[in-house]
Amino acid sequence: MRTKVAIIGAGPAGLLLGQLLHKFGIDNVILERQSPDYVLGRIRAGLLEEGTVALLDEVGAATRAHAEGLLHEGIELAFSGRRHRIDMKAATGKTVMIYGQTEVTLDLMNARKAAGLTSIYEAADVEPHDFDGGHPRVTWVKDGVTHEIDCDFIAGCDGFHGISRASVKPPAIETFERVYPFGWLGILSETPPVSHELIYSNHARGFALCTMRSMHRSRYYVQCSLDDHIDQWPDDRFWDELKRRLDQKAVDQLVTGPSIEKSIAPLRSFVAEPMRFGRMFLAGDAAHIVPPTGAKGLNLAASDAHYLSVALREYYDEKSSAGIDAYSDKALKRVWKAVRFSWWMTSMLHKFPDTGTIGARIQLAELDYVTSSKAAMTSLAENYVGLPF
Ligand code: FAD
Ligand code: PHB
Repeated sequence: MRTKVAIIGAGPAGLLLGQLLHKFGIDNVILERQSPDYVLGRIRAGLLEEGTVALLDEVGAATRAHAEGLLHEGIELAFSGRRHRIDMKAATGKTVMIYGQTEVTLDLMNARKAAGLTSIYEAADVEPHDFDGGHPRVTWVKDGVTHEIDCDFIAGCDGFHGISRASVKPPAIETFERVYPFGWLGILSETPPVSHELIYSNHARGFALCTMRSMHRSRYYVQCSLDDHIDQWPDDRFWDELKRRLDQKAVDQLVTGPSIEKSIAPLRSFVAEPMRFGRMFLAGDAAHIVPPTGAKGLNLAASDAHYLSVALREYYDEKSSAGIDAYSDKALKRVWKAVRFSWWMTSMLHKFPDTGTIGARIQLAELDYVTSSKAAMTSLAENYVGLPF
């Protein structure tokens, strides 16, 4: 087999990159370890920046998002028992869209199918080879048989635990990491959301977030211990804990119901530099992870796919390597700003075991500042709706 770009991973980064390249006439093949149903079953992100929706539009995969996505003009920050609204539309002229990652993935998978592009699911032992030389290739095993594809470039879009980044050995790669001393316990329920906008709550018992997937499906998160297991969190315990971390009006309006999904995610900030190694590029979670507090992970995967597709188009159409040479620096510039913002939102909103009472008081001062100063509010808003790319 031969293709121009072999893409490892069929998450949002790989699928969007595949469609963008196809639009530019660049042939590509996707290799994914899991089955399509497994990929579609992973409940993760829910909030899209305008720039991400524009990219879905560019590849003709945004029809359902425009029809079913919910446009939000603001968010609420809750602390000391009160809610304070950040009007993002007023501060930036922009909105964000609530539309689940599962739906984005499904729309991109359908677009790929309609375009007749090759995706190989349930590919085991995927391995990138010879990306330091001029003839990279990828091998994998399917149904007990080893296969190989020759390509011009490899795009490592295989998430945080993927093989692409792991194939690069120091000193070629440098990593930066912070692991937070807590996780997020999330549930999905077939109930109307407690409020029409998201509520981010700083509480003495720990952070809580009220979000949604639609007007009849809600997603809630509470900060939990890294030692917690979902078996210790029956639905009743979750709802009780959530209520304790919300203001009275929210408690009165909260509609509870059985969970249809429940999971615990650790929180981490991580960046690998650079994002290019010869003829292999990294994009999305394969290169960086941010804690979900700023809702940036999926949106960064989309901006990486954009930068990389434009760079590869320049390579093929203009026979110029300038774009691919600049990819890593360009992508990392936006990545680091999202890393900073997500770290800052996380620091302001969570209960930290080691910062004591002074840490908690400083958080309240920060929250008071961002909800009362126009300059601070605008700074939060412009990062939240997404920096331009
Ligand atoms: P992934 O989605 O991880 O996809 C990688 C793919 O590669 C997977 O399908 C995997 O099976 C495949 N793969 C892995 N290893 C191999 C291999 N060896 N061979 C072949 N295939 C392989 N982001 C936001 O922007 N907004 C949010 O609101 C938000 N909320 C979140 C909430 C939670 C609880 C979590 C956990 C994350 C959230 N995120 C959010 C982050 C977002 O989900 C990720 O950043 C996003 O999935 C990254 O996409 P990706 O394609 O880079 O990686
Ligand atoms: C979500 O809807 O899952 C979501 C929204 C905003 C966040 C994190 C997660 O900051």
